[in-house]
Amino acid sequence: TAQKDYKLWLQYESKTDREIITKYLNTIQGITILGNSETLKVALAELDLGLENMLGKKITHQADNKQNNSIVIGNKSSLPLALQENLKSEFEKVSKDGFIIKTITSKGKKNIVITGKNDVAVLYGVFNFLRLIQTNKSIENLAIVDSPKTDIRILNHWDNLDRTVERGYAGFSLWNWHTLPDFIDQRYIDYARANASIGINGTVLNNVNANALILTPQYLEKVQTLATAFRPYGLKVYLTARFSAPIEIGGLKTADPLDSNVINWWKNKVAEIYARIPDFGGFLVKANSEGQPGPQNYGRNHVDGANMLADALAPFGGIVMWRAFVYSEHDADDRAKQAYSEFVPYDGKFRDNVIVQVKNGAIDFQPREPFHPLFGAMPKTNTMMEFQITQEYLGFSTHLVYLPKLYQEVLESNTYRKGNGATVAKIIDGSLYNNKITGIAGVANIGNDLNWTGHPFAQANWYGFGRLAWNPYLDSEIIADEWLKSTFSNDENFVKPVKEMMLQSREAVVNYMTPLGLHHIMDTGHHYGPGPWVNNLSRPEWNPVYYHKASKNGIGFDRSKTGSNATVQYVPEVAKLFDDVTTCPEKDLLWFHHLSWDYKLKSGHTLWDGIALKYQEGVDEVAAMNATWNKMANYIDKERFKEVQMLLNIQNKEAKWWRDACLLYFQQFSGKELPKGVEKPT
Ligand code: GCU
Repeated sequence: TAQKDYKLWLQYESKTDREIITKYLNTIQGITILGNSETLKVALAELDLGLENMLGKKITHQADNKQNNSIVIGNKSSLPLALQENLKSEFEKVSKDGFIIKTITSKGKKNIVITGKNDVAVLYGVFNFLRLIQTNKSIENLAIVDSPKTDIRILNHWDNLDRTVERGYAGFSLWNWHTLPDFIDQRYIDYARANASIGINGTVLNNVNANALILTPQYLEKVQTLATAFRPYGLKVYLTARFSAPIEIGGLKTADPLDSNVINWWKNKVAEIYARIPDFGGFLVKANSEGQPGPQNYGRNHVDGANMLADALAPFGGIVMWRAFVYSEHDADDRAKQAYSEFVPYDGKFRDNVIVQVKNGAIDFQPREPFHPLFGAMPKTNTMMEFQITQEYLGFSTHLVYLPKLYQEVLESNTYRKGNGATVAKIIDGSLYNNKITGIAGVANIGNDLNWTGHPFAQANWYGFGRLAWNPYLDSEIIADEWLKSTFSNDENFVKPVKEMMLQSREAVVNYMTPLGLHHIMDTGHHYGPGPWVNNLSRPEWNPVYYHKASKNGIGFDRSKTGSNATVQYVPEVAKLFDDVTTCPEKDLLWFHHLSWDYKLKSGHTLWDGIALKYQEGVDEVAAMNATWNKMANYIDKERFKEVQMLLNIQNKEAKWWRDACLLYFQQFSGKELPKGVEKPT
């Protein structure tokens, strides 16, 4: 069963219903492959594996003139002219990496054609076709055209060269630098397969807090091996570039982006990388943030730094993902305002192959944050999303939290840029401003644990991230449904309740950790349990008290006009909404307002009672998750059942820990009793 854990959503569980099997087998009597690239070979191998496992029969491979009731796979140019003609309108619609799956009847023969403009698109189509069978969907009369809405769908690994993973809770790094380049772990291949199955097409191998050594020939040789292993799956390798690398590994005295030696050093370095990896993706850079080096060390700015690297990469088609996660202690009235203040003046100044990578919210991957005000604020700048898949502030790999719910909430947020309906998704997919490059990054939750992600349900967050990167308009409920069916079971008695449990899990964590807009009150450093009392760190904005500002007078961070005025960074419609305490959504209340303990909530409760009741609600929700799961023993394998059960028991205890710790702490200020319905701390 460790094996089941390992197989992620690619279980290809054998069907038991004879009728269903017969139906599929009638439609799939053979496979014809047109072409023999590495990518098509893996597509065929996947089809063989999936179909044989699910349907219990090896499907024969046929020559290309024999097929009837068969699957035909190949890219556009490999298709016979008649088929190309038949698929004309589909090929007009589909983008570069999009796929077509169509049932075509001609001259009395009926076949399913899986195609696209290139081989990777065909591979995506194959995975999609297999998913139809995994989830018991009909494969009669198919007419699917599905194109990714973003160009760069990428994982960010915060993996260090010593194999520790910053904010990683699933073991050590997958990359075994010690045995690379000679040893190619099967895991590298399965990693690439899993990513391809959900359309992820890029991976940044190393931590944003980068070590320059990754750019030395010794490491580049290892990186090259990984890139070669990933290539058939359409997965491109990127690296983080430490800004001071020219000093650390290049022997230069400076890393000033306007210095000609520095410029040349990067040009040569980039050429060296492309000589090894012709399809290298480019660099991700964290500069002048949390002590990392950057152009500001030399009196230059983000544009100088990003453009210098972009110019080195441009001749090879590479890009720079320049992070907007910047804040400093020198400007500490409100950390939430800093990225916007620093970046907006640069709009229109970045090169076309630079894309600014913005975290979903203005602080740091909290259980809930309003959307980052930078989304939509730089119309002339490519802007990409950075989500966190690893649960730094959401209970690590111990708590079950289904993150696509969070992602969806952010993507659906209305920025009102260019008017009503301008969702974050429309900025990210480039449709609002017609950007040159678009993308979504996710900080990976993957390590060398047997089950990849620590918590079996954290696999759903990797899966859901990929699906939303492909299509930011997908509903998280549909994603949960697909994932459950392909990972565990198609039995509705299992799928329905467990799906509900997943969908509610995100609100549960918000409730038992940071209800009503509270944020960043996790204990310091590790960010695991509660620590609202922490107030002894050197930088003010690292202390939880900075964020909740609880006192006898009340609680919350006033970011409205009367406070830090961070609301002004949103367009007037949105600013007005957040600014006015009566229109501010209650889920964001204490993010934007400091209110007295007696403030009346919409429910009629006082703020104090409302906070306490929310903490209790979170605890109750986790108890309900436990109860749901406990009824599922008969539907899945014992091992995964047990693992999840044990983890939910921990979550149950820790939800109470959060409730009790936060309420006891805040109670010193409110001076009020707990309302009816809230359990007393024991
Ligand atoms: C958070 C996280 C750090 C990380 C940083 C970043 O602050 O705690 O570990 O380096 O984000 O995104 O750069």
